[in-house]
Amino acid sequence: MTPLSQLEQVADEARAALEAAATVAELETVEVHYLGRKGQITGLLRLISTLPPDEKPQFGAAVNARKDDLTALLTEKRLALASRERAVRLAADAVDVTLPGLVFPHGTQHPITHQMQAVKNALIGLGFQFNEWPDIEDYYYNFETLNYPPDHPAFDEQMSFYVDPTHLLRTQTTAFQAHVMGTQKPPIRAATIGKCYRYEAVDATHSHTFHQVDILAVDEGLTLADLKGTFAYLVKQLFGDVEIRFRPDFFPFVEPGVEVAIRWGSGWLELGGAGMVHPNILEDQGIDSERYTGFAWGLGIDRMPMAKYGIDDIRLFTENDLRFLRQF
Ligand code: FA5
Repeated sequence: MTPLSQLEQVADEARAALEAAATVAELETVEVHYLGRKGQITGLLRLISTLPPDEKPQFGAAVNARKDDLTALLTEKRLALASRERAVRLAADAVDVTLPGLVFPHGTQHPITHQMQAVKNALIGLGFQFNEWPDIEDYYYNFETLNYPPDHPAFDEQMSFYVDPTHLLRTQTTAFQAHVMGTQKPPIRAATIGKCYRYEAVDATHSHTFHQVDILAVDEGLTLADLKGTFAYLVKQLFGDVEIRFRPDFFPFVEPGVEVAIRWGSGWLELGGAGMVHPNILEDQGIDSERYTGFAWGLGIDRMPMAKYGIDDIRLFTENDLRFLRQF
């Protein structure tokens, strides 16, 4: 076979292979095989040395011409294949903006959290400053400084969760009073809201863990009328126009003391205790009780949403049953 017919054969093979290549990667393999530095067409140039001198230029030109043809075909084919592959890739990556989006499940506020926020908002609006105080409280703050007589039943270990002989889970947010008066002097408009704990029989309206909001105002000239006005304002914000009721009650840290309630349905909803801060407490904290007076209250939070939503069992708040919680 003459070198020229050998060239024709290899060139035909190369052309067929280029045309058959279905991907850019296959095309590259063909390119290396025929047109690369060690490829078959390039290899044919070596035959030049076997030719008589007058055939050499003609053969060299023929090899180069085939090479140019094949290179042109390769370039054209590479463009076509690359653009087809890109189209396939784009189609695969395409985003269908009409598909429904991903659903991210989101929770809702716990009804107690929601209630506490509403109470806070109303009282902050009146100028009360909220601070958090410890849930594990010193006996001193929870009882001793609150003027309890030595034989008061609240001291009873049965009624409280003690963590050691002098520390307990606070039974009332009123424990914050001495913290506040220990660090601030009148005029005082302080409040706190949070969990309280009592070791008592649990039933539909009593839990071992519940929530209270306490306020403490100390200033010159404060009277029971200020307490009443403050309570009436809060009730109006939370429940709208409902009747309020004050009845005498005893708490060792107030004098006089009252039980506060609102009209709810055909009955009364007792919200908590309140009163004028006992002069002994002011004096213990270095506040002149001849010059200053104060009022305070401690209201239960849990019974507020119970009344509003008709929830008949306080235990539902802590059971974490989503069927219950999702209703709020
Ligand atoms: C007190 O805790 C006083 N510290 C309130 C107070 C503060 C009076 C400042 C005067 C001045 P009492 O024990 O009555 O008072 O509780 C107040 C409210 O907390 C109750 O009316 C009730 O709404 C709520 N509460 C008390 N115990 C429970 C309980 N086990 N479960 C749910 N709520 C409770």
